[in-house]
Amino acid sequence: MKYRSVSRSVAGALGVAALCLTLPLARPATVMGQRSESSPSSGASLDYAFFKARVQPILLAQRPGHARCISCHKHNNQMRLQPLSPGSAAWNEDESRKNFESVGRLVVPGSLKSRLLVHPLAEVAGGDFYHSGGKHWTSQSEAEWQTLKAWVLGQTSK
Ligand code: HEC
Repeated sequence: MKYRSVSRSVAGALGVAALCLTLPLARPATVMGQRSESSPSSGASLDYAFFKARVQPILLAQRPGHARCISCHKHNNQMRLQPLSPGSAAWNEDESRKNFESVGRLVVPGSLKSRLLVHPLAEVAGGDFYHSGGKHWTSQSEAEWQTLKAWVLGQTSK
């Protein structure tokens, strides 16, 4: 009896996980539709210089217990980062522009619900349920997350 109810709840949990995995696939069109880089009416717009100087280092940084964002997101996710050129520890101008485009698609300028913010953030801290790349931040007060937030809210590098 005990075993059956446990296995049923595991199956339930897997079902929920499967559902959550399929949901993101249905969303990019909406996210792109809401994207308003070219419509200043949203109030916030994404600053390239801030992205290059402050956000990109976060995408390259190694956090204990996690792989670096770049190690997974250079393949086939929606957030596609350019692979680093051999021997290079940072992205060049052209690569940075492409990253800005790609990461920007996961952001609704001005919105703290942007997937870039909630996906790698622990659910207890206001993040979403699941990111197969792990929850890299457990609190919104962590400096790196604060930097991502500042970018989403339109902070410039001046
Ligand atoms: C171990 C591999 C891995 C790492 C490391 C990783 N991710 Fe992901 N990430 C994924 C996979 C796989 C998906 C798609 C499935 C999902 O949503 O969980 C994803 C999805 C996302 C998405 C939703 C858009 C998309 O591309 O599907 C965002 C935003 C995101 N990751 C941000 C990050 C950030 C920021 C970091 C670093 C702080 C990071 N990820 C680190 C594997 C990873």
